[in-house]
Amino acid sequence: MISHGATVLPGGTGSVTALVIMGASGNLTHTKLAPALFNLYRKGRLPRHVHVIGVARDQWSDAEFRQRLRGAIGDANAAEWDDFASRLSYVPADVTDADALGAVSRRVGELAADDDRFNCLFYLALAPGLYAPAITALASAGMADESPGWRRIVIEKPFGSDLSTAQRLNQHIHSVFSEDQVYRIDHYLGKETVQNLLVFRFANSIFEPIWNRNYIDQVQITVAEDILVGERGEYYDRAGVLKDMFQNHLLQLLALITMDPPFAFQADALRNEKVKALSAVRRLNLRDVRHNLVIGQYDGYHYEPGVSPGSQTPTYAALRLFVDNWRWHGVPFYLRSGKGLSRKTTEMIIQFRSPPHMLFPVPEGVDIPGNTLSICVQPNEGMRLEFQSKVPDAELEMKPVSLEFHYDEGFAGVDLPDAYEHLLLDLLDGDASLFIRSDEIELAWSIIDPIVHSLDLPGAPAPYRYIPGMDGPPNGEELLLGDNRRWLPGCVEVGYGI
Ligand code: BG6
Repeated sequence: MISHGATVLPGGTGSVTALVIMGASGNLTHTKLAPALFNLYRKGRLPRHVHVIGVARDQWSDAEFRQRLRGAIGDANAAEWDDFASRLSYVPADVTDADALGAVSRRVGELAADDDRFNCLFYLALAPGLYAPAITALASAGMADESPGWRRIVIEKPFGSDLSTAQRLNQHIHSVFSEDQVYRIDHYLGKETVQNLLVFRFANSIFEPIWNRNYIDQVQITVAEDILVGERGEYYDRAGVLKDMFQNHLLQLLALITMDPPFAFQADALRNEKVKALSAVRRLNLRDVRHNLVIGQYDGYHYEPGVSPGSQTPTYAALRLFVDNWRWHGVPFYLRSGKGLSRKTTEMIIQFRSPPHMLFPVPEGVDIPGNTLSICVQPNEGMRLEFQSKVPDAELEMKPVSLEFHYDEGFAGVDLPDAYEHLLLDLLDGDASLFIRSDEIELAWSIIDPIVHSLDLPGAPAPYRYIPGMDGPPNGEELLLGDNRRWLPGCVEVGYGI
């Protein structure tokens, strides 16, 4: 949700809430959850009645668990840390074993002391194969029962590995928890600039009337990373960029750009509109995929630990999609993402149409492009609107100039919080707006599945090679050249934010 500062009462006297991190010895807890919780605490936003219980198989004591999290959060003064650490405890248990989870239940009971009301947020920071068994174990241990207080479950990505596994997982979850207890994470929705897209579109009146096929020529979404696959080779080789990035982050960005205004900023209203937008994305049949997809793999990918020799897994993809509804009919959406690219950047570029009639003299062979709105999600967060201006003291010569908004200038002194800070507060507040509903996740898989399957067919094109540090394979341009378009200069290339 947008207004945390205003809505959360840090001293809150509510019933005890146990944030049970299942998989507390893993990477997510150390790199994301612990720092985010500590930052919330430091900002006074972590309600007093929230306690964190780590659960994993390692035979750690409370003190050892605290010590490990201390190492994960970096700078902290001793008094702050001691106070925060007093809210951390640890229970060694196999999360798939209902009997072992009894110890977690008892620990929550001790925290609640005389209060017979207490809430539990179960955060599955686990390998995906453990989601279903952990949910079964929670149910068998009686921990899904809501009579003492609310119960919520948080599930990280990847949620399934295709449509049928996602459907099976949804069914399994729904046999224990109702949909309004389930919070599926896509951390991109926790990013400040991604949430700002909603405010930008729906808290201003000047953009919405032109946010459609009559004025927009094309939309480009780029999520580029300079890192390589590194130690995640085993997972990544099975997923590839289409499942790892497109099925979730890129389709979520697409949904936020293309959705209609919800009637209220309220979880179901918002998610209904995203579901409508994703339903309208044209499904590519196997033949169409060839004309709408370019894939690449960086040189040296085969040497990453866990990657199978001769793997054809794409580490880069560029995809053209269409959204078949009145608002977007005929507007191409070009999406690209990859690892081992020249830089890390996430940006969305909305290219408006050129003026229908140019009354000013334009030199032979020069096209005057339409206005461009660049939404820079990361780094150098902000926006840039480019338009034509008359060059002063010259005879009707035009030049593109820009209006820019930079977070670090517009909101000087405010550090953009990590996505997990937002998401954790929303979880505690029970606000599901920034979490993915079951129908939404299945729709996203139904868009990506045929594309991924086409790559397994005999005669499927091999990924083009590219050298790490490039902008993907040169063939990434092919997709656009056929449409007489090209990748537009992004936020960094135009000197934005530098
Ligand atoms: C994750 C992917 O979901 O997002 C990773 O699994 C990727 O492969 C990461 O590196 C990118 O997230 P961010 O926030 O760094 O852009």
